[in-house]
Amino acid sequence: MKLKNFTRFLFFAFVILFSAQSCVKQGPMGLTGANGKDGAAGADANETCKMCHNPTKVDIIAEQFTLSKHEYGEASFSEAGTVGCDPCHTQEGFKYVVKNNVSTVFTLNATTGKYVNPYATDASAAYGPLTCGTCHSSIHNSYTSSDLPSLTTVAAVPMTMWGGAKTIDLKADGGKSNLCAKCHQPRPFTNALTGNVLDYAALASNPAGIVYDGNPAGKTNIIKPSYRTHTHYGTVSAVYAGMGGVEFPGTLGYASSQHPTVASCENCHMGPKGADSDMVGRAGGHSFSAVGNFSGCNMTGCHTTPISASSTTYWTNPRNEIKGLLATLATKLSENGVEIMNRNGDSATNLWYGITTNNYDGYLNVYDPITNPTAQTYNASSFKYVGTPPTTWSADQLAYNATLPTLTITNAQMGAIINFQMCLREYSLGIHNYAYTKALLTNSIAKL
Ligand code: HEC
Ligand code: HEC
Ligand code: HEC
Ligand code: HEC
Ligand code: HEC
Repeated sequence: MKLKNFTRFLFFAFVILFSAQSCVKQGPMGLTGANGKDGAAGADANETCKMCHNPTKVDIIAEQFTLSKHEYGEASFSEAGTVGCDPCHTQEGFKYVVKNNVSTVFTLNATTGKYVNPYATDASAAYGPLTCGTCHSSIHNSYTSSDLPSLTTVAAVPMTMWGGAKTIDLKADGGKSNLCAKCHQPRPFTNALTGNVLDYAALASNPAGIVYDGNPAGKTNIIKPSYRTHTHYGTVSAVYAGMGGVEFPGTLGYASSQHPTVASCENCHMGPKGADSDMVGRAGGHSFSAVGNFSGCNMTGCHTTPISASSTTYWTNPRNEIKGLLATLATKLSENGVEIMNRNGDSATNLWYGITTNNYDGYLNVYDPITNPTAQTYNASSFKYVGTPPTTWSADQLAYNATLPTLTITNAQMGAIINFQMCLREYSLGIHNYAYTKALLTNSIAKL
């Protein structure tokens, strides 16, 4: 029976039952009550399901989604249960921080005297692959058209890397980019002495200051360089929003290009409208990939002279320029002829393979027998692995480490390292925000 008919059936059944009962015991007539509200028309269950579950909607989008790293990536599996990672790496973790509006403001622990980062999910919600329900958290709430594409959040994003002191609010296209920015933002660098977020403004204003003095036991070191002294992968939204770099004063100002004002992530990464018809090969639609998809550039109201992979002014020239600046900055970031930035020529493990000629990956060229065995500078944490457990390094590894040159790091170098990581790891060689990327790299080069 269709739902509508079933509702009618119930109504008549009720009328009959009521009349039957009123025959049993007859008292005096009461006052006439107010009319009840009309019941809502029952939905036809099958029709509601078909609105979404049909070959041109959910079915085809689920197909496109298999080409998205949200789906085929493995981080949601490997990081499940790690509450600090799961706001961005798991579905339930993401929904938890959105629902509870979890703060990004570092708090002082009175016992240790150090600051701690509160941005984490609860252990009971630290799992779940990134699926449709991550971004569309209303699916199957009401089984009506309002369940899709309604997004989990489009609210402004207080940035975790700044301990909430700066907020990303990308207003174009109804703020939909804020959904992406909530996850595609960098994690904080912390100051080893205070536990608080690293003060980028202090790095920029005092380039001669010392971040690491070369002595592992030094009492004023605010960061001890290691292979993984890095800006966590999601730098795109910070660069896009024109914040997140170490802004050394220099010849170029830190203005943004037009993109963050006029375009949304969706415009370029899901085709112009995010509709299922916006696929171009393996990119666009719900693949979320922008590689080789220029339809966003050429959508109505944007570039009127069509842009393609062979366009010079708006594609190859700016990208080559940024690529050149990255190479120059990497060369300047060296001590005694040894580069600080790490190279990795393996396309399977280097997510930024091919972006620079030397295949930098944004990590540091610091020795680690397990994660970076061919690196060329001294690992200052090696004392941790001598004598008392955990003794994880062999005598040969310790001896090799001892032959390597020690790094000392100034504020200027640290700022330049961060800017290099920001601009390499935004992947697009400046397309996201050409003006901001160019300023960060140019002014960093001048500072070294
Ligand atoms: C507003 C759109 C929408 C409506 C209406 C809708 N669904 Fe879904 N449904 C979805 C989406 C999106 C998914 C997730 C698909 C995926 O993961 O591939 C889904 C998944 C499912 C699944 C797979 C299990 C799961 O939860 O992932 C079942 C079963 C299902 N729907 C049944 C129904 C039935 C029965 C109805 C009608 C009573 C219905 N749906 C109405 C959008 C809808
Ligand atoms: C819940 C957090 C979250 C949200 C929301 C989110 N992403 Fe992602 N995204 C990720 C994570 C995590 C990965 C990497 C997954 C992995 O490697 O396992 C990723 C991967 C990607 C990739 C692939 C990167 C590559 O190296 O190939 C693209 C492109 C992307 N996201 C774009 C977007 C866009 C555009 C939006 C907004 C419409 C968005 N993401 C929303 C967390 C998120
Ligand atoms: C603020 C959000 C956020 C937090 C918190 C976060 N990540 Fe990520 N992470 C991302 C995004 C976004 C990507 C994908 C970026 C891209 O490809 O552009 C990513 C990528 C990764 C990758 C690379 C996956 C691949 O494709 O190979 C690993 C590994 C990873 N994260 C581990 C972690 C770990 C471990 C933690 C916790 C210590 C963590 N992440 C915390 C946002 C986050
Ligand atoms: C103006 C167009 C444009 C906008 C807007 C845009 N992107 Fe991109 N994005 C690109 C291009 C171009 C690339 C590089 C594609 C290539 O390598 O060929 C890229 C690359 C990426 C990548 C690496 C994976 C991939 O698809 O190559 C991620 C992740 C990403 N963007 C996320 C975002 C997020 C998040 C936003 C919004 C904050 C955003 N992008 C906004 C054009 C754009
Ligand atoms: C990373 C975030 C993200 C994930 C994951 C995601 N979507 Fe979307 N989806 C979006 C955004 C953003 C839009 C565009 C919304 C708008 O323009 O209002 C959208 C639009 C849609 C639309 C409306 C556009 C159309 O073509 O009709 C549907 C339906 C939809 N998504 C279904 C799904 C399904 C099904 C899945 C899982 C297979 C899924 N989405 C996974 C972000 C996501």
